[in-house]
Amino acid sequence: MFTTASAETKKISLQKSKAWKCSVCGYIHKGDEPPEECPQCSSSSKEYSELKDKQKLRYDGENFDVLLINGSSHRGHNTGVLVDLAEKALKRKGVGYRRFNLNELDIQHCWCCYSMRDSACTYPCRNQLDDAPALHEMIVDSKAVIVASPINWNNMSARLKDFLDRLTCLQNLYLLKKEGLTTGKVAGILVNGHEDGGVKTVMDIFLYFQQMGYVLAPFGFTYITHGAQYNAKADNDFFKNDERLKKEVEGVVSNVIETMKLDLETKLKDKISPVCE
Ligand SMILES: Cc1cc2nc3c(=O)[nH]c(=O)nc-3n(C[C@H](O)[C@H](O)[C@H](O)COP(=O)(O)O)c2cc1C
Repeated sequence: MFTTASAETKKISLQKSKAWKCSVCGYIHKGDEPPEECPQCSSSSKEYSELKDKQKLRYDGENFDVLLINGSSHRGHNTGVLVDLAEKALKRKGVGYRRFNLNELDIQHCWCCYSMRDSACTYPCRNQLDDAPALHEMIVDSKAVIVASPINWNNMSARLKDFLDRLTCLQNLYLLKKEGLTTGKVAGILVNGHEDGGVKTVMDIFLYFQQMGYVLAPFGFTYITHGAQYNAKADNDFFKNDERLKKEVEGVVSNVIETMKLDLETKLKDKISPVCE
């Protein structure tokens, strides 16, 4: 009798316990709250979400103007600060936007069908198994993208690169002499890092969009590094509080919006030669 009651109590308490997953490394934590620091990768509790069955990302078809992408491994760290500021600026300006943190999505690497045969890579992407196809549709439907990345080894994050490689299906439309779907759209870029590689990273990111016919908004990027003499904790305090950084991000967002309002997509239709795509 005693054993049965205790087993029953245990069952109830197990049912009550929640499970949390780290969006950076996948660690599962059981408890009422996520851990303050991930025991596996040291990320903060901001990276944890309650564990639920994950649905594939779908685009509901409702129009919006700006696609805002956080390309960091961490949704809530320094790159996240930039993206939060951009999101606030978009809200303040009343612009319709959607924000995605790539670390919450399932984006597989590009299958590189193009490398096998030009015509094997076209839109829609042949890999319909993950969250990339919904983002492709949103890229086609939106007027502008604002992309944020940390500097990793003087370049963008691997997560962002995997996602940008997946845009080859849109870029390859031009090579296949099909109707391009991205000419005249607007790009803005936000980059942060510890010490160096800012401009290179911005330009590496922009090259993808340039080769899809996007224009970079005038003064459409900013890169902010704190300094090699500081540690990660000091970097984070700096990014959360720096006034110049706020102004820079707000400036980029505003410049993207103003350029978007020119509606170059319509004005340039059938007037642009897709060279060097
Ligand atoms: C693998 C790796 C490589 C990095 N390489 C650079 C670099 O080349 N230049 C730089 O300024 N910072 C570099 N950093 C520092 C990151 O840019 C910095 O920690 C940034 O805050 C990370 O963004 P997050 O806070 O959104 O994760 C690197 C960090 C990692 C983990």
